[in-house]
Amino acid sequence: MDKLIITGGAQLSGELRISGAKNAALPILAATLLSENPVTIGNIPHLHDITTTMQLLGQMGIQLTIDEKMNIEVHSSTITKYEAPYELVKTMRASILVLGPLLSRFGEAHVSLPGGCAIGSRPVDIHIDSLIKMGADIQVEAGYIHAKVKRLKGCRLVLDKVTVTGTENLLMAAVLAEGTTILENAAKEPEVSDLAHFLNAMGAKITGIDTDILTIEGVDKLDKKEIHYNIIPDRIETGTYLVAAAITRGRVKLKDTRPDTLDAVLEKLKEAGADITSGDDWIELDMHGKRPKAVTLRTAPYPAFPTDMQAQFTAMNIVAEGVGIITETVFENRFMHVQEMQRMGANIQLESNTAICTGSEKITGAPVMATDLRASASLVIAGLVAEGETLVDRIYHIDRGYDHIEEKLSQLGATIRRIPR
Ligand code: EPU
Repeated sequence: MDKLIITGGAQLSGELRISGAKNAALPILAATLLSENPVTIGNIPHLHDITTTMQLLGQMGIQLTIDEKMNIEVHSSTITKYEAPYELVKTMRASILVLGPLLSRFGEAHVSLPGGCAIGSRPVDIHIDSLIKMGADIQVEAGYIHAKVKRLKGCRLVLDKVTVTGTENLLMAAVLAEGTTILENAAKEPEVSDLAHFLNAMGAKITGIDTDILTIEGVDKLDKKEIHYNIIPDRIETGTYLVAAAITRGRVKLKDTRPDTLDAVLEKLKEAGADITSGDDWIELDMHGKRPKAVTLRTAPYPAFPTDMQAQFTAMNIVAEGVGIITETVFENRFMHVQEMQRMGANIQLESNTAICTGSEKITGAPVMATDLRASASLVIAGLVAEGETLVDRIYHIDRGYDHIEEKLSQLGATIRRIPR
């Protein structure tokens, strides 16, 4: 397995281009299953999860062509089977996103249950129960969800919890259903809105985008032709590089991003002492060489502070001035990075879903590893300021969600290299 070695101490400075959003690209690629016509998706990030999604669609018989600019053209009319096998689902939970579109367009889906996960139990009960309410016959057998229906029927669905992929699956299911579906307590993450805009571009009738009530008027087919849709920029990649610059007391300008999707994150960076300026598609952060101040935050669904930025802010707090309290409310077990950071000398007290971080002047490089994507990124960030070398193992997690992370950090002046296995 590849490893990353980071030598701490460099103050980051420079400019970077932000890639397309992983968590928008995955549902949008799944949504191409709904159209009878070829569809082209642009601004696709170069990530392992994208390769897995292409494999997932490919093994169903779907034709995919990718060009050198990472535009993917999908022809779903060549589909021969309606299945997401365990071998792929176990490496990428987001494979569950094919359930809604397969069932809605072809009346049949066989999707492996995702099972446990490093950040919590992550059930998919809301996806399943809501599809049953829309008329699907669903059996869970031998680790697989087997779903059948003649045609899904629109209805009112009040979701028990705010779920991102749950909302996305139901949106995709509802666009070809008979009648109107109203999704209440829907997730309003920018990636959900991006999917909704893409579905409308293909011919769906969705209103209420960006709110927690989505109304979907079912149509017989998505028949718009010559669709070329660009994925929104990745707000979590953006936030990760902003924290990397802040922790090293540096200055960074990030281009091709969307500051309006990062309000809660930018607010906390300002509280940490960052000077932030932004335009329509860029953000500049400058610490003016100052040590960050510790911040207190609580994760929650959008537009509140994102759980996907929690680990990175924990990394900043451990070297910041003062005490910062971090509360995780979205996933029950998303503190896998804490023990690794403690091995680097961090002063963190973990009490159930709260991490109390007391900033130290100094942390020390150590061999570390993590079992999820954002935790791994936070260890790389901690390595940027640790004394000596930090060796981050199991970086396949990082490659799932960060486009060329070592090249991008090197471009900003970090001392980081990949050791191939
Ligand atoms: N939940 C249920 N039942 C369900 C669905 C969700 O109880 O049927 C619970 C979950 O266990 C969790 C909460 O609801 O406690 C929220 O989970 P959600 O369904 O929103 O998470 P997700 O859709 O599986 C997406 C992102 C995650 C991100 C979360 C929260 C994708 C592909 N994944 O996951 O991204 O953390 O939303 O914003 O969009 C990452 O990129 O590193 C990542 C983990």
